[in-house]
Amino acid sequence: MATDFHQIYSIQKANFPYPWKKEDLHQEFEKNNNFYVEKVQDQIVAYCFFRVSCLEEMAHLIQICTKKNKIKTGIATTLLRKAIYDLCAQGCKRLFLEVAHDNQAAIGLYRKFGFKRLNTIKKFYRDGKDAYVMQLEFV
Ligand SMILES: CC(C)(COP(=O)(O)OP(=O)(O)OC[C@H]1O[C@@H](n2cnc3c(N)ncnc32)[C@H](O)[C@@H]1OP(=O)(O)O)[C@@H](O)C(=O)NCCC(=O)NCCS
Repeated sequence: MATDFHQIYSIQKANFPYPWKKEDLHQEFEKNNNFYVEKVQDQIVAYCFFRVSCLEEMAHLIQICTKKNKIKTGIATTLLRKAIYDLCAQGCKRLFLEVAHDNQAAIGLYRKFGFKRLNTIKKFYRDGKDAYVMQLEFV
């Protein structure tokens, strides 16, 4: 739905220093079957999306983001729990992601779910920051 995409795009723009281009995010939203949103009173308050490799039984979290005025209210926890449940139902056995080494909020969220740090990719991000690669085994 156009309204949904508009809300997602504005959440992304407000939260990321280097947001995706509008048309790229729109394409992801339209074509990706693993795009999840959380709504409160019919308004989108968070979204996340994944790339899934059925062959490898693995999912890759590409983005997760909560609207600024809803941060720290448990929204991302609810959203990620639902998404993981769905990924499990699709046959995924593990989920991995990259996160900026100083993104305490996101690292806190992932640790809460039991993600473990696998390794570090030096200068992964455009601003030169390192990324931690983290993984969660479902079984
Ligand atoms: C990371 C993010 C999605 C968390 O969303 P949220 O809805 O605020 O998360 P929740 O309220 O469900 O919190 C879940 C856990 O994350 C951790 N956390 C959240 N905010 C935190 C902060 N500012 N500092 C440290 N830990 C934090 C806590 O462990 C928290 O659990 P607790 O409340 O039981 O202590 C949100 O901060 C965000 O959108 N950040 C900008 C986008 C981003 O960096 N995305 C991740 C990279 S793709």
